[in-house]
Amino acid sequence: MNMMSEAAVEKALDQKMNTAPYKMTGKDVSVYYGEKRALFDVNLNVRENTVTALIGPSGCGKSTFLRCLNRMNDTIDSCRVTGKIVLDEGDIYDPSIDVVELRARVGMVFQKPNPFPKSIYENVTYGPKIHGLARTKAEFDQIVEHSLQKAGLWNEVKDRLHESGTGLSGGQQQRLCIARAVAVSPEVILMDEPCSALDPIATAKVEELIHELRANYTIVIVTHSMQQAARVSQRTAMFHLGNLVEENDTDKMFTNPDDQRTQDYIMGRFG
Ligand SMILES: Nc1ncnc2c1ncn2[C@@H]1O[C@H](COP(=O)(O)OP(=O)(O)O)[C@@H](O)[C@H]1O
Ligand SMILES: [Mg+2]
Repeated sequence: MNMMSEAAVEKALDQKMNTAPYKMTGKDVSVYYGEKRALFDVNLNVRENTVTALIGPSGCGKSTFLRCLNRMNDTIDSCRVTGKIVLDEGDIYDPSIDVVELRARVGMVFQKPNPFPKSIYENVTYGPKIHGLARTKAEFDQIVEHSLQKAGLWNEVKDRLHESGTGLSGGQQQRLCIARAVAVSPEVILMDEPCSALDPIATAKVEELIHELRANYTIVIVTHSMQQAARVSQRTAMFHLGNLVEENDTDKMFTNPDDQRTQDYIMGRFG
């Protein structure tokens, strides 16, 4: 049997993540909202089966960059993206790309839990229905159970799957949104400050979940909490005034960063 302690296994997994292949790459990514430029030639790679945290002071462009990764910025009229973003081998801004399909591969969880005003069950089956991932009731049942298991919510809701998702607590709603994202078998999950509307206990649960999800998914999380970045991520990227300042191993980032601006930020000198 495996002789490694749990801590040693964790450590090995973390180290492996620092050399994991790139799942997504951003090359010279710039974003404009009308005349205003929000990102300046960002070059950032996202490693497979790794949690990458995006940190930096408010307004530095974290959400803007995150939204580039599944073309969510397309929904903002004034927004223009230049540069290149690749998922596996494919350019996601290529005209041949089906954006709906892209967003199934690169799912998203938002700041405020936003379940549909439908049952817990329907919240989870919505995506699989659209994408034709299941046909029979048994198949949908299986997706619902599997997704809610993955989101750490199954035990809490298995006896009330047909009650409204909006009747759950905030933390449960956010885990339902994670289940909804997981239900279409994404490869990448983007999270934009997913805990900012949650209390500390619900936050701890979601953080634990993120930690578990990294085994099967590539995760990019925006957080304004450096403590959270340190707890959940293996790689951290620091943004400042629309520039990527530094991307590094999370432990290194918070103990011995390469860039003075990262040092200043983690010491609380700005932001
Ligand atoms: N929809 C939008 N329209 C115009 N400007 C925007 C929009 N979204 C963000 N911005 C601007 O782009 C910059 C980066 O914003 P954002 O990516 O939301 O930062 P962060 O997530 O780091 O707080 C800010 O100056 C913000 O005001
Ligand atoms: Mg933001």
